[in-house]
Amino acid sequence: MRIIDRIAALRSALAEPRRRGQAVALVPTMGYLHEGHLQLADEARRHAAVVVMSVFVNPMQFGPHEDYTRYPRDLEGDAMKAERRGVDVLFAPPVEEMYAGDRTVVVTPLSLADRWEGAARPGHFTGVLTIVSKLFNIVQPTVAVFGQKDIQQATLIRSLTRELDFGVRIVVAPTVRERDGLAMSSRNAYLSNEERKRALVLYRTLRGIADAFDGGQYDAVELEQLGWEILATEPEVQVDYLAIVDPTRLEPVAVAEQGTIVAIAARAGTTRLIDNVILGGT
Ligand code: PAJ
Repeated sequence: MRIIDRIAALRSALAEPRRRGQAVALVPTMGYLHEGHLQLADEARRHAAVVVMSVFVNPMQFGPHEDYTRYPRDLEGDAMKAERRGVDVLFAPPVEEMYAGDRTVVVTPLSLADRWEGAARPGHFTGVLTIVSKLFNIVQPTVAVFGQKDIQQATLIRSLTRELDFGVRIVVAPTVRERDGLAMSSRNAYLSNEERKRALVLYRTLRGIADAFDGGQYDAVELEQLGWEILATEPEVQVDYLAIVDPTRLEPVAVAEQGTIVAIAARAGTTRLIDNVILGGT
């Protein structure tokens, strides 16, 4: 595995495989890699001869009071994990490499940006779409792999790719969970033992709603009510939203159907966690 920290060096490393017509897959991450990230690399390998993983804690997608400076970082550990998992190129640029000079242009989403994560984190998706656009332009991948865990992000990246004609195939891979159901996240490292136990209520809630749906309850008001009842069993967990929405516009639905998304965001202590399930599926 090659570790590259400059844009020009990455471009020249990819020139040869591109000349040979080999497909290149990109897996963008902020590092502190866990099994969820690594399964995205596995998925990338199914689509391409060359797998590029980026590790970049993107300052633009963090709000002024968010955790940019304390976000966990471990490039050495990440490099070992990525190499063992068969990643070909690890792109880990310093901030000055990605954001050199003035900031005069950004990529801002419209309709989807003002709800759910967008409402809770103003400017967040501008940061995400800007860095993902830059990575797409630098790597020019055939395919890019994202996780269902960040479902609104994945939805916006599909729109970005389609509407700005990036010509990149977007693959969204299922959420990888700990044995007890907690969705893997680099931010889980912040949780105390007690908070981690409490955080399980997120998945319990999503499962409860999914099971009720499987049992024939399609009324979204009823499903949401059930969700709030489960959430109330952990009053220390501060819920930001519980949303039952359609998969394209992420707008609340009255009647749930196969493919409807149930998404949740909540705080355990100071740590903000998100999770979701797709009804009738995962
Ligand atoms: P990060 O949170 O590091 O996540 C990188 C990718 O891994 C995202 O596509 C995310 O959805 C996926 N992922 C995270 N946890 C997962 C899990 N438990 N199962 C499956 N996939 C999981 O998302 C970002 O970074 C950034 O916003 C980024 C897209 C890299 C832009 O900076």
